[in-house]
Amino acid sequence: MNVDYKEIIRPKLTPKRYFHSLCVAEEAVILAEKYGCDTEKAYLAGVLHDIMKDISKEEMLKMFKEFDIILTDVEKQAPKLWHAILGSEYIRRELKIDDEEIISAVRYHTTAKPDMTLLEKIIYLADFTSQDRDYNGVDEMRIAVREDLTVAMKEALKFSVADLVSQEKAIHPDTIAAYNQVFMNM
Ligand SMILES: [Fe+2]
Ligand SMILES: [Fe+2]
Repeated sequence: MNVDYKEIIRPKLTPKRYFHSLCVAEEAVILAEKYGCDTEKAYLAGVLHDIMKDISKEEMLKMFKEFDIILTDVEKQAPKLWHAILGSEYIRRELKIDDEEIISAVRYHTTAKPDMTLLEKIIYLADFTSQDRDYNGVDEMRIAVREDLTVAMKEALKFSVADLVSQEKAIHPDTIAAYNQVFMNM
């Protein structure tokens, strides 16, 4: 890596989020090694995945305008999804990342989507199982992700959907489509 992307994300993130980003990158490398994915891409996508997460809502809305990004109604009322949409465009436009796989892994790390690539799945799951994570069920998720990627995707999507339902929040169509795909065994 010629550019030190860690130093690019550091001033944009809280110390906690910076640490999380590095943990996700490390976890992504472990999963990439295990499942035969490019480890450098996995590391970089992990480092960058939350690059826009600590930007203020106002700043994000400004950047959406600047980047000509039109949010759907579901996206508008779910600010938690914004950093992924914005992050993928930011790394393309401002950091000149031209690897579509990395861009897409950042884009879908929150919602997931059907037909995810190996790298997309790895970043999505590494975000669940990185060393800094500490939620009810994280140990089971860590075991699953080291045993079988498909089983882990099922568990992670179940967790996400159930979590949104319990909060009575809307579910992004990409998440529903991803969930349906893994549980219809297509
Ligand atoms: Fe995120
Ligand atoms: Fe994250």
